[in-house]
Amino acid sequence: MKVSKWVVREHMRGVPDPARIYERVEEELVVDLAEDEMLLETLYVSVDPYQQGLALDTRVGDHMGADSVMRVLQAGPRALFRPGDLVQGFGGWRTHVVDTGGPTRWDSTWHAENMPLVFPAYRLLDPAHYGDALPLHTALSVLGGPGMTAWGAMRKVLQVRPGDSVLISGASGAIGSVAGQLARLAGAGRVVATTRSAAKTDHLLGLGFDEVVVYSRDEPRDEVRDRLRRALPKGVDRYLDTVGGALTDEVFGMLAVGARIAICAQFESQVGGDHVGPRLLPLLMRPQATVRGVFSLEWMEDPACWVDLEADLGNLVRSGAVVHEHTMHEGFDSIPAAYGSLFADGADKKGKVLVRL
Ligand SMILES: NC(=O)c1ccc[n+]([C@@H]2O[C@H](COP(=O)([O-])OP(=O)(O)OC[C@H]3O[C@@H](n4cnc5c(N)ncnc54)[C@H](OP(=O)(O)O)[C@@H]3O)[C@@H](O)[C@H]2O)c1
Repeated sequence: MKVSKWVVREHMRGVPDPARIYERVEEELVVDLAEDEMLLETLYVSVDPYQQGLALDTRVGDHMGADSVMRVLQAGPRALFRPGDLVQGFGGWRTHVVDTGGPTRWDSTWHAENMPLVFPAYRLLDPAHYGDALPLHTALSVLGGPGMTAWGAMRKVLQVRPGDSVLISGASGAIGSVAGQLARLAGAGRVVATTRSAAKTDHLLGLGFDEVVVYSRDEPRDEVRDRLRRALPKGVDRYLDTVGGALTDEVFGMLAVGARIAICAQFESQVGGDHVGPRLLPLLMRPQATVRGVFSLEWMEDPACWVDLEADLGNLVRSGAVVHEHTMHEGFDSIPAAYGSLFADGADKKGKVLVRL
């Protein structure tokens, strides 16, 4: 059978140019499954900012790794799943996959040297959990990696208290948009979003944020500081950070007593090349603040967390208390462009960006 995949053709640092990095390859797949292997058809693929780093670790000519939702077409007698089953796993930007569905070890140089990533084994999706309120592709968004990250960061790390002043950077994205809504539901006194795009302000206010701080890295620091201080006059009790850079430097100077900061990503250093900043540790002492790195695999590897995510966030979405958003691209050929959109500041991109094959 004819199958297609997107392979890495070039290693490129900084803001990725998908047209340079990726090439579509078609090949003839002769299906000859081992006893524990499956042939799967990809239904949805995820595009995520962390793939900027994954691409640097991918050998030239190898397919691009990615989270996906797949349907099992054929299965060996000892395979994990049966034909017809729906699964979510690290299937990659491929129309079809032959795999055992076991964990994938990833030796990363960009992420944390000497700490390999291990992408979890494929997860069986129960069709009964999905429907109009929670379509199947939410297994890649609000009930998948981004949802788990937002939920874990807010429920297990930040633990917002009634009245707290909460700041979410990168708030229009898959993680930030859910995290902000969870802060609101937890009774935060003030929930503030940051975005690079002024055109997203009304949208973010509609999600329940009290105020939106528009920030871009080229702006004078004084202006950014003033905007943040006006938006958060009592300082910051809880901060979920995906942006980093000068924005986060300013927030460290605004921490309230007992503040908690969850470091989920640092876009400005990962792709923006902003690696040097002021010494921030002294700013933690007086407010007795806690900074905690967030790494969602700690929850994704725990089956109990999937049950809790479904019961908590899943039900909040079903009841309409939490809105989940997708920007859906159509067709296998649109994958690189969908991925490229993650790094642009266009107002058209909201929530989780996905591709339906
Ligand atoms: N630690 C973990 O376990 C974990 C797990 C999953 C993901 N992550 C990371 O968390 C971050 C957010 O993930 P996500 O799924 O929410 O991503 P996303 O949907 O692409 O959203 C990221 C948001 O960041 C904002 N942003 C700010 N500065 C940016 C820049 N220089 N380039 C691009 N976007 C910028 C964008 O909003 P505006 O355009 O509105 O500014 C964008 O909506 C990513 O970096 C991801 O790799 C971490």
